Amino acid sequence: MRVAVITGAAQGIGRRTAEVLAARGYALVLNDIQSTQDTRDAVRSLGADALELLGDVSNEEQVNRIAAAVDAHYGRVDALVNNAGISLIRPAEDTSAGEWRRVLEVNLTGPFLLCRAFGRLMLRQGEGAIVNVASVAGLAAISDRAAYNASKHGLIGLTRTLAAEWGGRGVRSNAVCPGWVKTGMDVADQAGGSYTDEDIQRRVPMARFANPTDVAEAIAFLADPKLSGFVNGHALSVDGGWFSDASWDSLRLRHRPE
Ligand SMILES: NC(=O)c1ccc[n+]([C@@H]2O[C@H](COP(=O)([O-])OP(=O)(O)OC[C@H]3O[C@@H](n4cnc5c(N)ncnc54)[C@H](O)[C@@H]3O)[C@@H](O)[C@H]2O)c1
Repeated sequence: MRVAVITGAAQGIGRRTAEVLAARGYALVLNDIQSTQDTRDAVRSLGADALELLGDVSNEEQVNRIAAAVDAHYGRVDALVNNAGISLIRPAEDTSAGEWRRVLEVNLTGPFLLCRAFGRLMLRQGEGAIVNVASVAGLAAISDRAAYNASKHGLIGLTRTLAAEWGGRGVRSNAVCPGWVKTGMDVADQAGGSYTDEDIQRRVPMARFANPTDVAEAIAFLADPKLSGFVNGHALSVDGGWFSDASWDSLRLRHRPE
């Protein structure tokens, strides 16, 4: 049995990733700070084993307890998906030290703690795959997101470091970098007035948002050694071409059908 751990599994990208991995035969360990009941019901209806282990990814003691529980229950872990994350849209000059620290704690320290705890199990096995959910904001700057951008740039740095340190012992580390995805995070961010659907659709070469399945399928690819066994230390854009496209808006739009 292959075992996958997913953080932030109650909704959005985490929930969809659980469903996609369940359909591929993984047993799922579902972490979140809120109930994962809907995700559990969904993956169990696909015939997958599911274990809910609630806890805050930024809390070292809780993360270590989760890893010990997975070791006791399954005795192995094949994939770790560091998906839990929080957004903060705030001009840099108005970002408080407390806000900065909380975003870094959840989006960067949390994945480090999970990688360390589950990495030890993977190193013991001599195999395993880590997939960190970064962002286009981990590759390039987006205004009004100093803490978020820094956390996602840092997460890609962590991914590359672990790839270098652990690749020789059978543990691969990669990241996905989604563009804008239709989830609860997008609803909350748009409610703050930062951007509209049209802003995003104009900027993305493929002229649409990502959906959670786009991201989940890329995560499943990077998790599976049969599909991506020699891919290590890569930051995979899942953004419809956003990061590759340095065109100005009117040039991009000129290439769209009328
Ligand atoms: N939605 C987007 O446009 C987008 C784009 C690029 C990257 N991402 C990234 O994808 C990941 C998932 O985002 P989403 O859009 O599904 O968000 P979401 O807000 O819909 O879901 C995030 C989940 O993480 C959980 N969570 C938050 N803090 C936690 C903590 N401390 N410990 C454990 N769980 C915690 C939440 O309860 C929630 O269930 C995040 O890392 C986010 O930064 C999202």
